[in-house]
Amino acid sequence: MVKAAGDALSIGLVGCGMIGQVHADGLRKLAEDGEIVAAAAADPSAEAREAVQRNCPFDRMSDDPFDVIADSAVDAVMITAPTATHIDLVRATLDAGKPLFCEKPLAPTFGDAKAICDAVTSSGLTAQVGFHARFHPIINRLQRTVQSEELGRPMGYTLRDDQYWPTGDVVPGHSSWRSDRRQAGGGALLEHSIHSADIVSWLFGPAVRVYARSRSVFGYDVEDVAALTVEHASGVVGTILTIFNGVRGREERRFEVFFERGAIEATTDFIVGAEEDSYLVQQPDTPARRLDLAVMRDEHFTALGINRRDFVFYTYPADRNWVRAVRQGETAVPGFDDALRAHRLVEAAYRSAAGNGAVDIGDDFR
Ligand SMILES: NC(=O)c1ccc[n+]([C@@H]2O[C@H](COP(=O)([O-])OP(=O)(O)OC[C@H]3O[C@@H](n4cnc5c(N)ncnc54)[C@H](O)[C@@H]3O)[C@@H](O)[C@H]2O)c1
Repeated sequence: MVKAAGDALSIGLVGCGMIGQVHADGLRKLAEDGEIVAAAAADPSAEAREAVQRNCPFDRMSDDPFDVIADSAVDAVMITAPTATHIDLVRATLDAGKPLFCEKPLAPTFGDAKAICDAVTSSGLTAQVGFHARFHPIINRLQRTVQSEELGRPMGYTLRDDQYWPTGDVVPGHSSWRSDRRQAGGGALLEHSIHSADIVSWLFGPAVRVYARSRSVFGYDVEDVAALTVEHASGVVGTILTIFNGVRGREERRFEVFFERGAIEATTDFIVGAEEDSYLVQQPDTPARRLDLAVMRDEHFTALGINRRDFVFYTYPADRNWVRAVRQGETAVPGFDDALRAHRLVEAAYRSAAGNGAVDIGDDFR
């Protein structure tokens, strides 16, 4: 789809829960910027629909997602409903010939995630996945350091990725599908740390072998702890520790990357300007340097052509990126090929944790 300059893209939002409301906040800003029209939004829950309307006044609300997908006033569809619903919603959107954005993870099972990726790829439609860390200034800075080899080649990494247990029993008022394997497919690793699977695949290339162990300490039928050893085709090796913990409100990613001539310790949260954020660079015979994150953030958003600074979530630059790609008829990144690489890493970890030792990401993952 190539829209004439100045022609705003009409968006249909499908799923008005927690992340749908966050996207709605970004969509309101994009509407103010003249990039989109907030055409329609759908959710079976009236309460969720009302919450989304408070963040972004959509022209029309519906309790039926397929009604919004089929709506001729909707140019492109943003899918922010629970993971298990994605496959039917993506298929309906592709059948309608509309570009789409889909939240991660794509599906509870690897087979369905792969089917979604195959269908999206063969449609040729512009499509983006909700790996919002791709728009984080700290992760981008790290990626450029890896690419430029300014500290030499990357050797290994350790990544600890934790979040409070996002389920109603632990956080009153929260939805509870995440603690149900049938609906979520997996716990801390699939639901949360697939972001990290994407980050390490983006920085170091595809994973080729994974060894993993997992536990369910809270007693749900999905894991809340998993430890992975990952080998990349590039030769880089690393470890990922993912945890859904009992510290309500806590979510932090700590990434240490070792290069031939340096090391970086980076900590991120998921909101712009979080207290936890830090970036420390260590090089031989030089005092360690802690970079100024306000400057890093400002340079990052300026480089993306973003003039606003009044957004709290990385969904705003992510959504803007998708909207612009759709309007210009270009490929959106991160796309479904990126999602497939991340899903492969996660699937290899689950197969390994099921007792199969180290698992090679081979032909049966294609
Ligand atoms: N990228 C990120 O950082 C990020 C963050 C949070 C959630 N997510 C993902 O987004 C998705 C939604 O998560 P959430 O936290 O908003 O969940 P949620 O439970 O808070 O909200 C889901 C909403 O979808 C509605 N819904 C259920 N079935 C639907 C259907 N068929 N069509 C439309 N709406 C439907 C529910 O009524 C609910 O309001 C999940 O796949 C999740 O993994 C991604």
